[in-house]
Amino acid sequence: MTRVAPQDVRHITCVGAGVIGGGWVAYFLARGYEVTAWDPAEGAGERLRAIVDSAWPALTELGLSEGADRANLTFEPDLATAMAKAQFVQESAPEDLDLKIQLLADIDKVTPLDVVVSSSTSGYGMSEMQVACAHPDRMVVGHPFNPPYLIPLVEVVGGKQTSPEAVAWTSDFFRHIGKSVITMDEEVPGFIANRLQEALWREALHMVAAGEATVEQIDLSITDGPGLRWPIHGPMLTFHLAGGQGGMAHMLDHFGPSLKSPWTRLEAAELTPELRDAVVEGVDREAGGRTINDLIAERDAGIIAIQRALGRV
Ligand SMILES: NC(=O)c1ccc[n+]([C@@H]2O[C@H](COP(=O)([O-])OP(=O)(O)OC[C@H]3O[C@@H](n4cnc5c(N)ncnc54)[C@H](O)[C@@H]3O)[C@@H](O)[C@H]2O)c1
Repeated sequence: MTRVAPQDVRHITCVGAGVIGGGWVAYFLARGYEVTAWDPAEGAGERLRAIVDSAWPALTELGLSEGADRANLTFEPDLATAMAKAQFVQESAPEDLDLKIQLLADIDKVTPLDVVVSSSTSGYGMSEMQVACAHPDRMVVGHPFNPPYLIPLVEVVGGKQTSPEAVAWTSDFFRHIGKSVITMDEEVPGFIANRLQEALWREALHMVAAGEATVEQIDLSITDGPGLRWPIHGPMLTFHLAGGQGGMAHMLDHFGPSLKSPWTRLEAAELTPELRDAVVEGVDREAGGRTINDLIAERDAGIIAIQRALGRV
């Protein structure tokens, strides 16, 4: 079996067309691909077009590839028909293990054998999801970040039954379409970035539950604090600089002993209905009348401005 070369892919099928699937569709269209989408929900086609339309101004500002056109999107109600022309598949269905196991097996049955199937899962290992597939060797995780049409990172990792060649092909493909790719050798729950984000979120919820900080204070502590440094240096280089001329070595020697306490006492808050409501009310208050679409536009403009300022566009 020979796969199409990553640079020769012309047609992509996206399965699941919500926040992430829709974002992928928009990105692939902006890179000039023909895209077929499949999603079993009533009204999914209209919702998908609305997602693509809301992403298009940002994608246009960043520069569309030759041939990029929203008219290259087909919404297909039949799974087998949607898969027939696929040269690459990106699955973005709900984060439910049983659903993913069944869906990947269904996709596998009707997708040409030389085609890689990539899952957007935020946390499941491909080893758990590929168990019912007849051809598990072509099943890969390609984990994006919201919104996939603007955030460059994709974490790529295979499962126990995935062929290393499929992992390498997927990494090459994502790089070819302009993504920043981390190819992982090991399956780690949450991959790299979500594991870090989850630790931060766990603490944020813990502080709200304990009445230690409000939702607004938590957001401000990042946007006006460490968050400003993170587009330039990740948490490791950031702490390297926090150690002065002694760098990371001084940082660890100096602060390591005092950090032992927070590193070991931190635990997850219980997600009670009260905590859920407090967090939901907090973000509503913080949004202060801005709709989800207002916030998306604000976020997209900000990400583009940061990327521009850093010379990454
Ligand atoms: N939201 C995020 O920030 C984020 C980031 C990275 C990865 N992900 C992952 O992306 C995937 C999708 O998440 P989302 O946030 O887009 O969810 P979502 O709820 O916005 O979208 C899910 C879509 O899947 C459709 N769907 C329902 N049943 C289906 C089925 N059996 N087969 C195919 N599609 C089906 C729904 O109609 C919906 O359109 C999940 O695996 C999630 O973990 C999410």
